[in-house]
Amino acid sequence: MLYTPHKKQLAVHQSPSRFKVLNWGRRTGKSMFALEYVLYEAMRRQGRYWIVLPTYRQAKDIYWKQYIRTLIPQELIKENNNVDLSVTLNYIEDQANGIKHDKSKPPSTIELKGSDNADLLRGAEVNGFVFDEYAYHDPDAWKLVFEPMMLSTKGFAMFISTPNGFNHFYELYMYAQGYKKTDTGGFELVHKKGRPGWFYSHATPYDNPTISNTEIDRIKSENSPDQFAQEYMAEFKKMEGLVYKQFDRAIHVISPDKVPLTGSYVVGIDFGFTNPTAVLYVLIDYDQNWYVFDEIYERGKTINDIASIIKEKAAGKNIMTYVGDSAQAEHIANLNQQGIPCIPISKRKDSVSAGINLIQEALKPREQLSGKPKPKLYVSSTCINLIEEFEKYRYPSDDAKKNAKENPTPKDDHGLDALRYLKLFFQYELNKEEDFYDESDLFNNGFYR
Ligand SMILES: Nc1ncnc2c1ncn2[C@@H]1O[C@H](COP(=O)(O)OP(=O)(O)OP(=O)(O)O)[C@@H](O)[C@H]1O
Ligand SMILES: [Mg+2]
Repeated sequence: MLYTPHKKQLAVHQSPSRFKVLNWGRRTGKSMFALEYVLYEAMRRQGRYWIVLPTYRQAKDIYWKQYIRTLIPQELIKENNNVDLSVTLNYIEDQANGIKHDKSKPPSTIELKGSDNADLLRGAEVNGFVFDEYAYHDPDAWKLVFEPMMLSTKGFAMFISTPNGFNHFYELYMYAQGYKKTDTGGFELVHKKGRPGWFYSHATPYDNPTISNTEIDRIKSENSPDQFAQEYMAEFKKMEGLVYKQFDRAIHVISPDKVPLTGSYVVGIDFGFTNPTAVLYVLIDYDQNWYVFDEIYERGKTINDIASIIKEKAAGKNIMTYVGDSAQAEHIANLNQQGIPCIPISKRKDSVSAGINLIQEALKPREQLSGKPKPKLYVSSTCINLIEEFEKYRYPSDDAKKNAKENPTPKDDHGLDALRYLKLFFQYELNKEEDFYDESDLFNNGFYR
């Protein structure tokens, strides 16, 4: 297969920036380009180059066979290593382009890695990294493992991906364009001409001349608009199936100093062990606005450990009530013994969907007598785990259309469950005679103080 870079690919080859972010849709030519780019660099500057995939398996099963084995011209190859997934190149001497590799040093190599076992890779010195499908990588591996490997070599790093919701790739994509994250979780443009040292590119399969427009149009007609926009057009989308579609950082996330100082403190708890135990701290103000102002997410902790963390947080605050999952009666009894007044929320048969409805209601911005519409639920920007769950919690994708009543996938739901228990408690539990409970009555009866 002959490679002549298409326009968007050529622009990357020509960019001198050390760091590059390519937000390219499916079939745009990401993987082929990753290899061609690295091959070119390995010839130009003698050294070690890594192409990093989300997992070692992907590197081996797909990338190695489909790209490495077919795209590197035989005459350039000194040696292939099928186990390490590395190719050693011959020394290059190309007078026309002023390239002459130093034969007293190791020849250039191109190596495939998976970021799923990044820990095993520590210690190497690398001249350049290309991450393919970066939105699906372990988000911590870059800073902890890879970046330190190129400090001495002054190497380059290129992050290529299709979007995958508002995750670490989204943040990097904003960063590369010159945005800075504000403390409310929004973005502010600080480098109007793009961030110095960074190159940014957006491309779609329409930029790839080997794929016909009719073929792309066929795919478009077979996918939902959101799906097509994200996967092919490389637009960041909240995907179908998201439970809290209304959640919007610009509306619901506030800086911690915007949380009122007076109101009632209540706490929701979702117990876990391998899954995290999530504890959410909520202030309810006199207008029944809910402010989630603090969170605990702890894995692998016993209930006694959790109890001491809870006690520490409670110091100096007058917490009205703790609400926990009734399925964990032992844990609740244990907290009670330790002086933490925790009440079980009894589960109704539809408590998942009923609770979700309550949270969705609270998220909806409502018209105000004056000013902008406002929701009834806010989250402090310090509650990073909860914010992430709001943006990830979703219905099983196949069932989203078939059966709207289906419960969401039990993933990314720990803090959201804690919040749901609190909502259910205030709505239905405090006054069992009424199925619909008006919280303002509570207030008039002196429950809040
Ligand atoms: N510059 C090019 N010259 C020739 N063919 C190209 C070029 N760029 C991409 N292609 C071809 O386009 C197709 C898609 O390329 P590639 O697999 O690199 O895309 P991708 O963006 O990684 O796709 P996916 O999203 O499926 O991972 C392949 O058949 C590839 O050979
Ligand atoms: Mg690919």
